[in-house]
Amino acid sequence: MNKKGFIFDLDGVIVDTAKYHYLAWKTLANELGFDITPEQNEQLKGVSRIRSLEIILDWGNKTLSEDEFMKYMAEKNDNYLSHIAQMDAGEILPDVPKILDYLQETQQGIALGSASKNARKILQKVGLHDIFKNAIVDGNDVSKAKPDPEVFLIAAQKLNIEPTNCIVFEDSVAGVTAANTAGMISIGIGSKETLGHADYIFNDFTEIQTLFIQELINR
Ligand code: BG6
Ligand code: MG
Repeated sequence: MNKKGFIFDLDGVIVDTAKYHYLAWKTLANELGFDITPEQNEQLKGVSRIRSLEIILDWGNKTLSEDEFMKYMAEKNDNYLSHIAQMDAGEILPDVPKILDYLQETQQGIALGSASKNARKILQKVGLHDIFKNAIVDGNDVSKAKPDPEVFLIAAQKLNIEPTNCIVFEDSVAGVTAANTAGMISIGIGSKETLGHADYIFNDFTEIQTLFIQELINR
C-alpha cells in the first residue's frame, strides 16, 4: 500500500477562521484610522501575526513604539480569540471530514502545517486534535514563516515521509509558494486568480473527489 503525507494548513482550509483574522485586523486598522480591503487581506493569509501587523502599519503609514506594537498585537489576538471561543465542530469546512476519513481509512500520513500559534486550541475546539496529534507543526514550532518551506519540511519529518511524497492543502499565496519550494504537490483551496501557482486548484473540498485523492496516493 502506498503511503503519502497529506499536510493541511488550518485557517481557511480546515476551518473558516480566515474571516475572524480579517475581522480582527480590520477592527485594529479602523482604530488606527484606516481600513483594510479584502484584496489586501489576501496578502495577510498564511502570514505570521508579527509580520501581519508590520504590513498593516505600512499600508496605513503608521509607526508604533515597541510597547504600542506589542499592545496592538495582543489586542488583535484577544479579539480573534473571542471569535474562537464560540467555535465548535460546525465550523469545519464542508467535506473536510470526508477527505480526512478517506485518508484515515487508507492509512495515509496526516499532518498540520499552520502559521498560527492558536492552532492546537482551534483543533481542540472543533474536535480534530486527535486526528492530527502525531504531526502538528504550528507557529510555535518554526523559526521561518511561510513562504519559507520550514513548516512543511518539519511536518514531513514528523510523518517520516519524503517531501516529494507529500501533498499540501493551502489557501494562501505564501503557503502555496512554501509547498512548491519544499518540493511537495500543492493544492490551492480558493480562487484561480489568487492561487494560480498551485499544482491543482479547487474552490473548496466539495470539489475534491476521493478518486482524485486515490490517484495522488497511487502516483
Ligand atoms: C495563519 C493565518 O494561518 O496564521 C494568518 O492565515 C495569521 O492570518 C497566522 O496571521 C498567525 O495566526 P495566529 O493565530 O498565531 O495569530
Ligand atoms: Mg490559511
